[in-house]
Amino acid sequence: MRTFFMKLALIAGISTMAFSAHANGNLNLICSADVVICEQLKGMFEKETGIQVNMVRLSSGETYAKVRAEARNPKTDIWWGGTGDPHLQAANEGLTLEYKSPMLDQLQDWALKQAESAGYKTVGVYAGALGWGYNTDLQKQKNFKEPLCWADLLDPSLKGEIQMANPNSSGTAYTALATLVQLMGEDKAFEYLAKLNDNVSQYTKSGSAPVKSAARGENGVGVVFMHDAVSMTAEGFPIKPVAPCEGTGYEIGSMSIIKGAKNLENAKKFYDWALKAEVQSTMKDAKSFQLPSNKNAEVPKESPRFEDIKLIDYDFITYGDPQKRKQLLERWDKEIGAKAN
Ligand code: F6P
Repeated sequence: MRTFFMKLALIAGISTMAFSAHANGNLNLICSADVVICEQLKGMFEKETGIQVNMVRLSSGETYAKVRAEARNPKTDIWWGGTGDPHLQAANEGLTLEYKSPMLDQLQDWALKQAESAGYKTVGVYAGALGWGYNTDLQKQKNFKEPLCWADLLDPSLKGEIQMANPNSSGTAYTALATLVQLMGEDKAFEYLAKLNDNVSQYTKSGSAPVKSAARGENGVGVVFMHDAVSMTAEGFPIKPVAPCEGTGYEIGSMSIIKGAKNLENAKKFYDWALKAEVQSTMKDAKSFQLPSNKNAEVPKESPRFEDIKLIDYDFITYGDPQKRKQLLERWDKEIGAKAN
């Protein structure tokens, strides 16, 4: 009998401990940026709030697919990061929740515009321009053309040297596809992509993977957001970030609360918290060099600045539309993906 009561007391003790560790509840987060910043944000938020964060890292397109698949019974409360287009597509399909954070008045115009255009079902958390990074050691060794313009990427000396992501899974690659369509017109962009395919060795799942493998010397060029190339340079790899000479698109990395979130109050807490200047100012510690959306956050000295880059007037409304996404991706699968090396 005595042992029975001792066991009971032990079980009661353990469950009280478990309860107090999660006293402020849980938050199910999908993070679509680099895993290092994802882990950093999770740790900081848990420490500050006592809320247990269950975090998974998924690319932007993968997250959009998951949120759609789970629409009737959402397993996710909040989606932080990843390119803005799939956040807009999710908003358009009513998969995310309207929320007007008290932090909105601290945000840059581009972040607010993103929120307004989606009826406040998403908001901008960071921004960054598309480009690529190339390995300068490999360029000298293999003597491939220095890639400074989109046109240079077609040079035969770059055969097998280029990696980019698959636009179905990756927001980076969808941004690249939409950028080329806006720069060249759709038919010309697909002609360009078909020629580029001869030089592409692999279409990766995640957007930043191509420049990480270029840093390791596995390929010459990774088509990525410029800040992902800068991260590799900051890590000490021989990677040179490039802003394409013809002009380029950009992302408004976004955040959305999932409609039907089981932990709605905690999702709102995270949302307000992630828009704070002091939180966004810590992104550089994870070597995440996007431009922060809070006007008072520190812009890291390494961050590629929009004023130094020839940017197109990226049409977020058109390319953030679910029908446009479907049409472009079907064409990409048929004309490019099916012929991939
Ligand atoms: O690595 C960071 C980052 O480039 C973000 O700026 C961007 O929103 C995200 O990754 C896109 O990742 P993916 O292309 O894998 O969806």
